[in-house]
Amino acid sequence: MQRIFSGIQPSGIPTLGNYLGAIRNWVDLQADHECIFCVVDLHAITVFQDPKVLATATREMAAVLLACGIDPVRHTLFLQSTVRAHLQLAWIFNCVARIGWLNRMTQFKDKAGKDRENASAGLYVYPNLMAADIHAYHATRVPVGEDQKQHLELANDIAQKFNHDYGVEFFPNIEPLILGPAARVMSLRDGSKKMSKSDPSDQSRINLNDDADTISLKIRRAKTDPEPLPSEPEGLVGRPEARNLVGIYAALVGTGHAGVLAEHGGKGFGQFKQALADLLVDKLAPIAAEATRLLADPAGLDAILRQGKERAEAIADPIVTEAERLVGFLRP
Ligand code: TYM
Repeated sequence: MQRIFSGIQPSGIPTLGNYLGAIRNWVDLQADHECIFCVVDLHAITVFQDPKVLATATREMAAVLLACGIDPVRHTLFLQSTVRAHLQLAWIFNCVARIGWLNRMTQFKDKAGKDRENASAGLYVYPNLMAADIHAYHATRVPVGEDQKQHLELANDIAQKFNHDYGVEFFPNIEPLILGPAARVMSLRDGSKKMSKSDPSDQSRINLNDDADTISLKIRRAKTDPEPLPSEPEGLVGRPEARNLVGIYAALVGTGHAGVLAEHGGKGFGQFKQALADLLVDKLAPIAAEATRLLADPAGLDAILRQGKERAEAIADPIVTEAERLVGFLRP
């Protein structure tokens, strides 16, 4: 059975983008993979987080993942900062990765913006930590949204250079799993920007804890164009907002763009948005209710995360110890 690793930052409430691009696929992959899922708090502090807010968001993220259907009995769910192996391997990878490689990372350019000199050093080496997350478990498949593709290519470059420099075949190649018609969910206000939990405008996204009225209002207000929906996917070219809503709908009903347009082509957005909002409320309301139930029992949640930490350590510690030996570190 192949081993899966994936992570999500507790830098806000998870969005519909996180759900359709990643979490929902994680849930499905549990059927035929050994899965390790991680709330990546070390990654979150690459941009300053208020400590109290971070602690709350970390717990909420764990609860939402469980509410979505992550199974902590058959698989592993834990907090990144509780397993030191990530940091140990990340340091080695900081020394393997080349500055030129990091300079090509588009996400760093986007997040650092114009004020690059003022970005944290952690934000710059963030992809090395991400590579360490995966390789510390010898995971071979990584389900993510499209925005993480470049980081996974870098993780493979790092593994290859490590193997080459130390003359070993130690870290395996990883395969990105970028799945479904919503691998890149866009902002509801701007079809050229991805939906993000850290976007300043709450109207740009659906949060997994939004109530039914909020979801309907956000979808009703979502930016669109005046044309009716086309009958074929080709008609979505040059209409990013329309394409986005159709993609979301397609992912929710488990079909493709063509399937949705066969049913809704020719309709105006008023009608389509109503159907989409109903679908979203149906899917998301039970998740929000279950997350609230889990959060009412913090001790239960902590016990799940402690067990996850122990399982994660049992896999990662021997792998990272071996990597340290290969590098030449003495253990007198
Ligand atoms: P993060 O926290 O930004 O997002 C978590 C997952 O959600 C996906 N995603 C989206 N998918 C579709 N449309 C969107 N608008 C959208 N926004 C986010 C992301 O692609 C991701 O799969 N660096 C990672 C976390 C990470 C990680 C890892 C992932 C740390 N270590 C190791 C995989 C393996 C991140 O910031 O994800």
